[in-house]
Amino acid sequence: MLGGLSASVLLTLVLAYYQGCAEGAGSVGVAYGRLGNNLPPHGQVVRLLQANGFKSAMIYDTEPAVLEAFIGSGIGLTVQATNEELQSLASDADAAHQWVQVRILPYASTIKYIAIGNEVLTADHEKSPLLYPSMVNIRNALIAFNLDSVIKVSTTHAANVLDATSSFPPSNGQFNASLLQYMEPILGFLSLTEAPFMANVYPFLAYLGANGDIKLPYALLESASAPNQIVVDGGAGLMYTNLFDAQLDTFVSALEKLGYGNLALVVTETGWPSGGGTDATSVVNAQKYVNNVLAHVMGGTGTPRRPALGLQVFIFALFNENEKTGPEYERHFGLFYPDQSRVYDLTL
Ligand SMILES: *[C@@H]1O[C@H](CO)[C@@H](O)[C@H](O)[C@H]1NC(C)=O
Repeated sequence: MLGGLSASVLLTLVLAYYQGCAEGAGSVGVAYGRLGNNLPPHGQVVRLLQANGFKSAMIYDTEPAVLEAFIGSGIGLTVQATNEELQSLASDADAAHQWVQVRILPYASTIKYIAIGNEVLTADHEKSPLLYPSMVNIRNALIAFNLDSVIKVSTTHAANVLDATSSFPPSNGQFNASLLQYMEPILGFLSLTEAPFMANVYPFLAYLGANGDIKLPYALLESASAPNQIVVDGGAGLMYTNLFDAQLDTFVSALEKLGYGNLALVVTETGWPSGGGTDATSVVNAQKYVNNVLAHVMGGTGTPRRPALGLQVFIFALFNENEKTGPEYERHFGLFYPDQSRVYDLTL
């Protein structure tokens, strides 16, 4: 009895410690992509976010007209330096200083994170050598403006920075060896500056690519209704009821193997398309996936490897974007149609 009591007190202390690390129990934001020619004015977008209770959002650039609309909104922003800006940010400290002065400083009160580039190591691989120097130059400029403790610098990664041959079970996760020369300095930077590792995580894409080897309820976080779909990670002694957790912990394992298991993790994108032609894309499936992720995050539990560490997640995306390229489903990730009506109900 006494032993049980002290164990639970200890557990409470450990939970409190980890939740302190995670800056709260869990938080949900939304990615405001603007690759559409029929989207509402920025001011209306801010009101839409407020009306739906979002406290944070991500944009894919530092467009002043957009940043202007968010001032005083109470919504914390993650902004991005675009891949096109990396050449100058990496090679010229003065250009980085100016970029921060013009693009960040006037809106500093609303900005929480600057993501340098988008999926550079995989989607824009030839720019990989520019990534770390850009992060350093931007951070030095933030230091000069005394903003480095309130605005953190990171960069977003796609799931294919992981080694595709060792992504299962999650405890086998490791980064693709050919990317380590770029990844390791970045991880050192994130650790030193107490910034999070940012990952874009799409169970939908893994499900599509698995040709039936992954069951839909497992991908949609619906395994409670299909208990035979629990995955046991024997090496780690952990149980996975959904692919979202499994993908996150594959990243966590990869970080641990390089000695960076203590980095916070932010899911900068996750979502499920409500249409677009494949059988898994439907309003019903999108609604299930997104609401199940929201419930998971708001429930305050983390992943099996980090059960007490609250999740920080951005849902992709705010709107269906008719100018996104790629397969048809790419234009159907939105929570809202461009006329601001809901694609499906959210429980937030
Ligand atoms: C690692 O990345 C390279 C370059 O993108 C790719 O060709 C290779 O297939 C990847 N290897 C694994 C095991 O994922």
